[in-house]
Amino acid sequence: MSSTSITPLMPVYPRCDVRPVRGEGCYLFGERGERYLDFASGIAVNALGHGDARLVKAIADQAATLMHVSNLYGSPQGEKLAQTIVDTTFADTVFFTNSGAEAVECAIKTARRYHYANGEAHRHKIITFANAFHGRTLGTISATNQPKMRDGFEPLLPGFEVLAFNDLAAAEAAIDENTAGFMLEPVQGEGGILPATQEFLQGIRALCDAHGLLLILDEVQCGVGRTGTLFAHEQYGVTPDIMAVAKGIGAGFPLGACLATEEAAKGMVAGTHGSTYGGNPLAMAVGSTVWGIISEPAFLEHVRAMGERLRGALEQMIPNHDALFESVRGMGLMLGIKLKSDSRGFVAHLRDRHGLLTVAAGDNVVRILPPLVINESHIAECIEKLSAGARDYVPPAAA
Ligand SMILES: Cc1ncc(COP(=O)(O)O)c(C=O)c1O
Repeated sequence: MSSTSITPLMPVYPRCDVRPVRGEGCYLFGERGERYLDFASGIAVNALGHGDARLVKAIADQAATLMHVSNLYGSPQGEKLAQTIVDTTFADTVFFTNSGAEAVECAIKTARRYHYANGEAHRHKIITFANAFHGRTLGTISATNQPKMRDGFEPLLPGFEVLAFNDLAAAEAAIDENTAGFMLEPVQGEGGILPATQEFLQGIRALCDAHGLLLILDEVQCGVGRTGTLFAHEQYGVTPDIMAVAKGIGAGFPLGACLATEEAAKGMVAGTHGSTYGGNPLAMAVGSTVWGIISEPAFLEHVRAMGERLRGALEQMIPNHDALFESVRGMGLMLGIKLKSDSRGFVAHLRDRHGLLTVAAGDNVVRILPPLVINESHIAECIEKLSAGARDYVPPAAA
C-alpha cells in the first residue's frame, strides 16, 4: 500500500515544487515570482509559447460568440478545420477529441471497425512496440508493455502484441490471421526520444500493404510541426492509414484528432463513436488558429533551423561534460540528451538550481521540447544553463 496520504488533487502525479501561475513567451513564472526558461512546453504542448496573442484572441472571440454545442447539430467550425486538415495531410476524414489518449482510442476503434466492415472481425490484433506510450485509458495502457502503467488495472483490453521497436524481422514474424495493423510513434517520446529507423517505418508500411493491414501512427507528441515538418512521417516518405494527433494542435487547449483515409474509416458510420466535447466551436477556433500558423512553410522552416542550431550546440557541449552526457538524438525541436545515468536527478537540478525546465524520459534521456517559436537567444540561454548545470551537478552515488 502507498504511504501517501490523500490530497484534494488525486495524488497520481509526483509533483515538484514549481507552481507556475503565469506564462509569457518561452518563460514560466512561479508563485514566488521565480522565472523558468520553459524547454518542456507542457510536454510538447505549448508550441506557440505562453500567451500567444493570436491564440488568446481566437479563444476570447470564439468564447464570446459560441463556446459549445452538441454534435447533434451541424458544425461549420468543425467542417472548416477538418477540411483544412484534409487539404494538408494524407487524411480524408477527421474525428476531433479532447486528448491524445482519446485520439488513440478512436484510432484503435477505427482499425477494428475497418476489418469488421470487411467481414473479417477476427482481425482485431494490433501490434505495438516496447517503451511506446499511447496514453492512460484502459485501451491505451493495454497497448504498452510498461508494468508501471498496467499493474493493478487488469484485466486489460485483449488484442495487442508488443514487440521490440525498430526490429522489422520480429514485426513480420508476428503477423497472423488475426492481425489488424501496427501502431507506433515515428519518434518515441516518453520512451526516450527514439526515432524509428527509415528502414523500419518504410518496412512496416510495406508489410501493411502486402498483408492488408492498417498502419496507425501516434503523432500525439511528435506531430504538428515538432520535428520540423508538419508531421514526422513526412520525413520517412511514408503515409499512415490512421493517425492520432493532440498536444501541439491545441497549443495548450485540450484538443486532439484522429485522422484517417476514406478506406480506413469505412467502418466508422453514424452511431459508432462520439464525444460530448470533441470538436466543439471553442476547440475548433483554437485548432484552426494553431494549424494556420504552424502549417506555414516559413514556420516549419524556422523549426528546422532552430532544431539544427540547438542540436549543434548540444553536440558541441557534450564532450565538455562526457562523464554525464552520452549523446544527443531526435528530430527538429524534439530532442533528447542521453545521460550516462538516470536523468531524473539532472532534470530536477536544472529546474531547481538553474531555472531550466526539461522533461525526463525513458532510457536516461533528458527531453528538450521548447516552444516552436524559440529564437537564438533562448537557445544560448538553454545551453548556458545546461552547461552550468552539468558543472555543478553531483549525480546520486550509484546504489
Ligand atoms: C505519443 C503519445 N501518445 C498519446 C499520449 C496521450 O496523450 P494525452 O495525455 O493527451 O491523453 C501521449 C502523451 O504524452 C503521447 O506522448
